[in-house]
Amino acid sequence: MDSKTLRCKYLYFFQTKGHVLISPSKLIPENDPTTLFTSSGMQQLVPYLKGEVHPKGDKLVDSQPSFRAEDMEEVGDNRHTTFFEMLGNWSLGSYFKKEQLTWIFDFLVNEINLDPKNLYVTIFVGSALVPKDIESEKIWKELFSQANLDFEFTVNQNPQQGMKPTDKIFYYNDKNWWSRAGTPEKMPIGEVGGPDSEVFYDFDPEGKLQIHKHSKFKDKPCHPNCDCGRFLEIGNSVFMQYVKTEAGFKPLPKQNVDFGGGLERLTAASQDERDIFQTDLFLPMIKVLENETARKYEEDPVPFQIIADHLKAAIFMISQGLEPSNKMQGYILRRLIRRSILKIKKLGKENVDFADLVRVVGIIYEGVYDEILQKQEIITQLLQNEASKFSKTLNKGLKEFEKLASTGDLNGQTAFKLFETFGFPFELTQELALDQNITLSLEDFNQAKNQHSDNSRTASVGMFKGGLADNSEKVVKLHTATHLLNQALRLVLSQEIKQAGANINSERLRFDFTYDDKLTEEQRQEIEKIVNEQISKNLPVFFEEMVTKEAFTSGANGVFGERYGDKVKVYFIGDKEKPFSKEICGGPHVVQTGVLGQFTLGKEKSIGAGKRRIYGFLK
Ligand code: ALA
Repeated sequence: MDSKTLRCKYLYFFQTKGHVLISPSKLIPENDPTTLFTSSGMQQLVPYLKGEVHPKGDKLVDSQPSFRAEDMEEVGDNRHTTFFEMLGNWSLGSYFKKEQLTWIFDFLVNEINLDPKNLYVTIFVGSALVPKDIESEKIWKELFSQANLDFEFTVNQNPQQGMKPTDKIFYYNDKNWWSRAGTPEKMPIGEVGGPDSEVFYDFDPEGKLQIHKHSKFKDKPCHPNCDCGRFLEIGNSVFMQYVKTEAGFKPLPKQNVDFGGGLERLTAASQDERDIFQTDLFLPMIKVLENETARKYEEDPVPFQIIADHLKAAIFMISQGLEPSNKMQGYILRRLIRRSILKIKKLGKENVDFADLVRVVGIIYEGVYDEILQKQEIITQLLQNEASKFSKTLNKGLKEFEKLASTGDLNGQTAFKLFETFGFPFELTQELALDQNITLSLEDFNQAKNQHSDNSRTASVGMFKGGLADNSEKVVKLHTATHLLNQALRLVLSQEIKQAGANINSERLRFDFTYDDKLTEEQRQEIEKIVNEQISKNLPVFFEEMVTKEAFTSGANGVFGERYGDKVKVYFIGDKEKPFSKEICGGPHVVQTGVLGQFTLGKEKSIGAGKRRIYGFLK
């Protein structure tokens, strides 16, 4: 089955089960300073999973383009990508395990015709705080019993020790717990999560391909979660039931379902093609690359896989308005393009014609994400410019790299030189260095960068660990403090002040605003005093959804130059009728200001005509 049919079937199938189709969010989330990219379908639904009422109802379905920067280095095999499309369905306190598992099994077996013999499922074994998921075991047993397998299937309680050919249901520990932050220990306070049940597809049920034996895992037992490539996870039903609090896990007000399945992998399974790059979602790109480089995919698949994944991600990002830069998302985009150029060079070419690549990606997603075809010229031009800028210095940079590596002078400091002079992102140099068994220190790199006079314009490389830059408690607190600061600036300096940008990490907040003069010491003290007063009053923080126009006429602050949708969330701090602050914002925020602690201001300076930048901290 081709990917377009599969996507359609999934969305339609869940619509027939009473789900409402919702629009995916942008790849670069609007109004969410804590996240660089949308990395799963559930991201836009977090407030609703926590108990808010969704305007479209309690059963939702969509298909969400997603990007995970943290997986960049995993790309280069038959199944890993940074960019993927996640098919998702949600129950917001409506149905639960029984319906979800029954529907998903029905979809896989009867809609996309997967042979149940090739399907395996995993469930949560339980922990000190959350019980073993015997309910899912029971449901899966029923489903497999009805599937007319021609053998007696069995349950595996300890798959790390290996599996029998008859095993269908497998109990795992952390592998079957899902939250955006990972395991229960890694979750910040306020994050939601729960046990999950994954479905795996077996690409070698008869053992003819001996995939496991030919992999680097050959000395360990094989089982569904073994990374040898025999099994591919094609879907995950998360039973979103818990929120982490200071006192441990608390049940959410409602029991939710959050299902996500990668379109690329589902397509691969439906075509019984274990290499996603050989499905219709990538093959047209691979063909163009083969033509351009006069090389064959089969002979050296890894560079093809990396180029195809990275350029597709880049094309999507640019189609949604992002441009390469040295900051935030733009920096990730730049890395994707530069990494691709390096791999193109590996295939023996200095450059490729991007026009054909952009066009085939446009066609792959025609009728679904039409911005790509609509903007194909702009996208091509931008890729071409960025690539030729980098290509110009690439050879010189590689020479310099070789010299440094051979003389033993490659370190964090010289990696910064490569960045400054030849545009080598740190991570790229680090990768090249790893090929030669040299490890580079990010700290030294950052130190060299900070010493550089222009450092303030370059965001910290350390920030870009993942799509979810940071959703920690500290970031959320600083986010609420940013709203307090915004209002305090307006009270002390001028009501005319407009926000011109904000950036938050776990260390500090940074706030840009329109104003002409340097702040006096008195003004600084007054601003700090006002913010700290609001904190000590322990004001409530809450939001309301409003029609955008009404939000503005009611006096809510919005970000200068930002485009908003028809409806927006407006965050209030204080009393609903006379709030201290009222701002259009996607959240997240703390619930009461009292938890913020002591607020202090940091450096403040001009960032161009009529614009200033100020830093703030919480202790
Ligand atoms: N949110 C879940 C995942 O990403 C479905 O796997």
